Amino acid sequence: METLDAIRSRRDVRTYTAEPIARERLEQILEAGRRSPSSRNWQPWDFVIVTDRDELRELAKVWQGAGHIARSAATIVLVTSVPPDEDTRATAQYDLGQATMNMMLAATDLGIGSGHSAVADQKLARRILGLPDDKLCAYMIALGYPADRPLTPLRHPNRRDFDAVVHWGKW
Ligand SMILES: Cc1cc2nc3c(=O)[nH]c(=O)nc-3n(C[C@H](O)[C@H](O)[C@H](O)COP(=O)(O)O)c2cc1C
Repeated sequence: METLDAIRSRRDVRTYTAEPIARERLEQILEAGRRSPSSRNWQPWDFVIVTDRDELRELAKVWQGAGHIARSAATIVLVTSVPPDEDTRATAQYDLGQATMNMMLAATDLGIGSGHSAVADQKLARRILGLPDDKLCAYMIALGYPADRPLTPLRHPNRRDFDAVVHWGKW
């Protein structure tokens, strides 16, 4: 798939077929995350990949909107260090967003759907994943082959109009 087609085709996918994702495909997606740009190249991320059904069901309990994690074929948990201050936190969030998008676009390219999830209960997430206390679960990305319809370019995305968003030269 062309990159622009992957951008047009990615959408939030929360229902998945039972088909597992091959290890090689998961590695391609994770590699896209590893290659993401970051401030001063500090790479403020680790990726924990979960495929065990019982563990996925447990992970789905860390946030009220995380039900799709339980049904996913695999979920990537983006782990970062507990930030020492607000500036570090904001920079890490930006960079984690870049890694998220790289992985979602790589998944789309492979025909694999993806759906974000926030993490509210850090204590539970740490216990499930065996993380030390100085680590934080930033977000989760559920992955799976879409159960509804394949990933093809969306003609009418649910977005603000182009001219309302884009300002040429000046506000
Ligand atoms: C930072 C972030 C966190 C999100 N968390 C959740 C979540 O916890 N549960 C969920 O169902 N969707 C979550 N989403 C998905 C958004 O609702 C979705 O991306 C948005 O509505 C745009 O739709 P689209 O992805 O289909 O383009 C999250 C998205 C982002 C960017």
